[in-house]
Amino acid sequence: MTAASEIVRVELGSRSYEIHIGTGSLPQLGTQLAMTGAAQHVVLITDEHVERPHAETVAASLADVDIETDLVVVPAGETSKSIDVAVDLWTKLVELETDRRTRLIAVGGGVIGDLAGFVAATFARGISLIQVPTTLLAQVDSSVGGKVGINLPLAKNIVGAFWQPEFVWIDTAVLATLPEREYRAGLAEVVKYGVIHDKSFFALLEESIDALNAHDDAVLRTIVSRCCQIKADVVAQDEKETSGLRATLNYGHTFAHAIEQVAGYGEILHGEAVAMGMICASRLAETMGRIDAAVTERQQRLLAALELPTEMPSLDAEELIAAMQRDKKVAAGRLRFILPDRLGHVELVEDVPPQYVEGVLG
Ligand code: NAD
Ligand code: GLY
Repeated sequence: MTAASEIVRVELGSRSYEIHIGTGSLPQLGTQLAMTGAAQHVVLITDEHVERPHAETVAASLADVDIETDLVVVPAGETSKSIDVAVDLWTKLVELETDRRTRLIAVGGGVIGDLAGFVAATFARGISLIQVPTTLLAQVDSSVGGKVGINLPLAKNIVGAFWQPEFVWIDTAVLATLPEREYRAGLAEVVKYGVIHDKSFFALLEESIDALNAHDDAVLRTIVSRCCQIKADVVAQDEKETSGLRATLNYGHTFAHAIEQVAGYGEILHGEAVAMGMICASRLAETMGRIDAAVTERQQRLLAALELPTEMPSLDAEELIAAMQRDKKVAAGRLRFILPDRLGHVELVEDVPPQYVEGVLG
């Protein structure tokens, strides 16, 4: 059964697009595509965990409307966001006689969205991209806003582009097959939106703890829509991250990237590190007299109720600070953080003294 879908618009002039959020809507993607242009050829890019059943459901829906479709499967995991896999995909697109009328569809989590998006941005100087995110993180964050890219051995997400999709197709029913730990990690990014931009959304999350823990479809649809709306508003105002507004989406992320790196990539999921990182950032804001402890405690209670970690693992503080100083958000070695000044509002704070940062890592 298909629940009524909601539509969020990303207003970017001639590059504006719609995010369709439904439950059980994956089999309707072919019809949507047939309605929105003359798609003669589609290349679906997915990973080995998502191929069955989700990418195959999409392929079947395209076959139903007589769209010629090729399915390309890459290994699951962050290591696929590499130049080697991008070269394999560019080569495959040539072999499949892809031309500028071909549409590329990314069916998967943030890894597939970023990788396939990068390939779409660069192949034949840019071809159409449709994002079909299948993790909660990808549904509320990475599929929206056009950041696409790959990693280099020395730096994550360092080669990429801004390449907005033609549209985003979100089916919350696909989350049923997502490992529970990945689902929880996505919830950390959901909480982030409440802290940075929307106090009433934060309160809605507090009211929805049981429903979120039970994967309630109606609540999930509402929450994914609200996150997409917040991100759409931010991206519409600061698409290329020049005014500082889009940078607020990185709340907790300077700590999180350092935690992921020092713990060893793959040990702690990104969303788990974001949960810990938000608490560190909030404590830092307390230390600097920007908020009182109640703001941190509220975040901590919500994250813990969603079964996310909020206490730091035992990692070396000096190594964490060194990792933060290498972060691309750091200007000339000076530590900068996105910090709350109240629930629902954050600011970029420059030149934070390292001893304050060390103080919240213990
Ligand atoms: P991921 O794509 O690796 O997916 C996590 C795991 O879940 C993988 O094993 C995947 O195969 C599996 N999976 C995906 N959907 C599934 C489903 N429905 N059922 C069963 N298994 C499924 O990781 P992610 O957390 O979605 O994304 C992380 C990536 O996103 C990182 O590379 C990060 O840099 C990027 N990211 C990009 C942006 C952006 O704005 N472009 C924002 C945030 C994160
Ligand atoms: N996930 C951060 C951004 O899209 O800017």
